[in-house]
Amino acid sequence: MRTAWAFLLLLAGAVGQTVKYQPPVCAVKQSTVTLPCTFTPVRKIIRVVWCQNHLICHGATPSVYDSDSKTNNPFDTRYKYLGDKTGNCTLQISNLQKRDEATFRFRMEADDAEGHQTGQRGVNVTVVDGSPMRITSSSEREVREGQNVTLLCTSICTFHQLQVTWFRGDHPLPESGPALMLSPLTAEDSGNYTCGLKANPGIRSVAYMLQVEAADGGTTLDYLTIVRLLLVTALTVLIVIVASIVIKRTCVCRKAEQQIDE
Ligand SMILES: *[C@@H]1O[C@H](CO)[C@@H](O)[C@H](O)[C@H]1NC(C)=O
Ligand SMILES: *[C@@H]1O[C@H](CO)[C@@H](O)[C@H](O)[C@H]1NC(C)=O
Ligand SMILES: *[C@@H]1O[C@H](CO)[C@@H](O)[C@H](O)[C@H]1NC(C)=O
Ligand SMILES: *[C@@H]1O[C@H](CO)[C@@H](O)[C@H](O)[C@H]1NC(C)=O
Repeated sequence: MRTAWAFLLLLAGAVGQTVKYQPPVCAVKQSTVTLPCTFTPVRKIIRVVWCQNHLICHGATPSVYDSDSKTNNPFDTRYKYLGDKTGNCTLQISNLQKRDEATFRFRMEADDAEGHQTGQRGVNVTVVDGSPMRITSSSEREVREGQNVTLLCTSICTFHQLQVTWFRGDHPLPESGPALMLSPLTAEDSGNYTCGLKANPGIRSVAYMLQVEAADGGTTLDYLTIVRLLLVTALTVLIVIVASIVIKRTCVCRKAEQQIDE
């Protein structure tokens, strides 16, 4: 009977949604993450608990943090409760491990069973080995001036809104979407591109090296034009020289003829 009552109250509490978590967390192995959390107690809270992968987070459920240490096994010191018993239930996990990949839930227990409550929704934590960010390109690594390229920043983590920051070398770019359009390409677009998350500046993708080659047609044409110009000039000079010699000869001959006539 008591259990049934407690269960009903628990369900009623779940409907109230008095525990608020932040969106899912995706972080690199061995890093430190905080799971921001707030709650609105309806009674005086005497015990707070965080547990992993359990819907109810109650009774004999193994917890990662329990303010009532007497009823608890020695818990992992990597979990640190930054909250209190009045409204802040923030949990910090340091030296993140693969086994931390789970749904974490917060439970509060009051001086009266009516005030007991578990934040059912929980917060999901995903643990990744390397950088969760990648850059893929719409074309080859070597591209030519005047072409278009779109660099796409993707993540193996799922984020509600992918607010991305882009860098060329260490220089931040103004674009903030997951797709970086470079069109038309110029030589200045060459460089090592990285992308990261606006919300988590510590995470950056592996560099993507973009090399913009000078447009092929353009340079060849310039070279040919110069060669042609040189040839035309040389030919002109030759014609002038030949012409002047011919004219001189004609004049000399004419003078000689005139002299003979006289
Ligand atoms: C909860 O506590 C943490 C750690 O002290 C703090 O950073 C955070 O701002 C607090 N949150 C609220 C809503 O007060
Ligand atoms: C959290 O993970 C569980 C199990 O993988 C999934 O069913 C649930 O939809 C996830 N919740 C959120 C908010 O991403
Ligand atoms: C490059 O993109 C522009 C629009 O941004 C488009 O007008 C142009 O045709 C594209 N050029 C090539 C070579 O795809
Ligand atoms: C990009 O990175 C490569 C490899 O680290 C380096 O050799 C190259 O000089 C870099 N390019 C620029 C423009 O910084």
